[in-house]
Amino acid sequence: MGTLRYRPEIGWLLQIAMLIFVVTVLIGIANGTKVFGTLERNVLLTHVHAGTLGWITLGVAAACLWIFGGTGPRAANEGFARGLVIALAGSIPLYVAGFWSGSFVARAALSTPVFVAIVVLLGWAIREGRRIGLGRLSTPQLSAIAGLTSLVIGSSLGVYAQFAFATGQQFDPMNIIGGHVTAQVVGFLLLLGMGLIEYWHHPEPTPASWAGRIQVGLLFFGALGIALGFALGQPQAAGGAVLLEVPALVIFLVRVGWSAVRTSWTRAGSARYAAVAVPFLILNVGSIIYLILALFVLNIYKDFSEVPSSVAVTLDHALFVGVMTNLNFALLVRFTADRPALLRWADNLIFWGLNAGAAAFIVVLLANITFFERFTAPVMGLAILLGLVTFTLRLWASPSTRRAPAAV
Ligand code: HEM
Ligand code: HEM
Repeated sequence: MGTLRYRPEIGWLLQIAMLIFVVTVLIGIANGTKVFGTLERNVLLTHVHAGTLGWITLGVAAACLWIFGGTGPRAANEGFARGLVIALAGSIPLYVAGFWSGSFVARAALSTPVFVAIVVLLGWAIREGRRIGLGRLSTPQLSAIAGLTSLVIGSSLGVYAQFAFATGQQFDPMNIIGGHVTAQVVGFLLLLGMGLIEYWHHPEPTPASWAGRIQVGLLFFGALGIALGFALGQPQAAGGAVLLEVPALVIFLVRVGWSAVRTSWTRAGSARYAAVAVPFLILNVGSIIYLILALFVLNIYKDFSEVPSSVAVTLDHALFVGVMTNLNFALLVRFTADRPALLRWADNLIFWGLNAGAAAFIVVLLANITFFERFTAPVMGLAILLGLVTFTLRLWASPSTRRAPAAV
């Protein structure tokens, strides 16, 4: 496919994402081992948004540059792509620091540039999509555009909440923050999770089939219905919309998931990271459906405060670590494939430590034997840190990115 147009930008995004993720991992290990006792809310929210915005969203932005920007004249869009990287990489670390500071005014002020950068990212993806031709987009590309649209919707609710907190305005946090979290998790991340599993399983771009388009449509409108149901205080609507996740998951498993998961898990490379993400994705979608039906249809829990936190934390980490961290590593493996494989011995340790650690972390939370969190969080965390060190060394291994051979 020729030379990759956005090679340096992808490298910067991945490097900054890895640096911010260290914050998430260190807080996660401290939280699991309880070395500093129970952590305060500002620290937890730093853990969450360093992970979701710093690691996942910057990694997703890098993946978008990769899956849309394969070929074409670099000069045409160079300034835009560079500005996009500066906007994202400049604003996100500051907002994460805003969470740490605990100041509502700082959080409101610093959330705005992040929002603008995210809108620019969506605009960039749409522009690239139109350049390729909307009818020719692959399912991963369509998933990215729909997922980034959900990201913009979810983030606008987040910014709204920040300004409401800062100005002392009354609002129902269950609605707005519930809408925020569901738009991000069910909309943004599930769309990109399924899209990128497909991409790493079958990197050749082919125009989306009807089944692929229906999958994307069901996921997008399902998430929109759930998020609006929360935001507008109509939980039954969310209960209905979540049912769209069932056919979406089935279509995904038939089209991609079933064959992706049977890729060799012992062969080093990107494909096994996509393979192992499939069971975590099923677990996540299953628990989202259970949780929303249990809350709004079956009335097993009266409201969110009754939902066991272990269910929520399981659901979160299956997606954040089990799906999205594996997919960021898939891109890192592919992106650095043309450089010397420094610390080659680490490849299996990273893959198995991350995934066995994440699986054990989830089992321990679900079985409610929190004592073992002292061990599972560090295993998962140390494997990730080893991954971050290894991939950073490999990113820097090539003396000149310009001389690197074709990437795709
Ligand atoms: C992208 C990555 C990650 C994201 C977005 C994330 C997000 C979250 C969220 C939303 C919570 C719940 C916070 C609350 O109680 O309100 C949480 C808790 C937690 N996280 Fe993470 N996390 C990530 C990675 C990690 C990693 C790598 C580790 C371990 C090294 C970790 C360990 C923990 C622990 C131990 C808890 C507390 C669990 C409990 O309630 O017992 N997380 N995280
Ligand atoms: C501009 C971007 C964003 C803004 C302004 C924002 C804002 C917020 C705010 C105000 C809260 C409530 C904090 C509190 O309780 O005091 C929150 C919570 C949360 N956000 Fe975000 N957020 C953004 C991006 C994201 C993204 C991209 C994700 C996921 C992919 C995400 C996932 C979450 C989660 C899971 C929580 C719940 C944390 C917990 O209570 O354990 N956020 N966010």
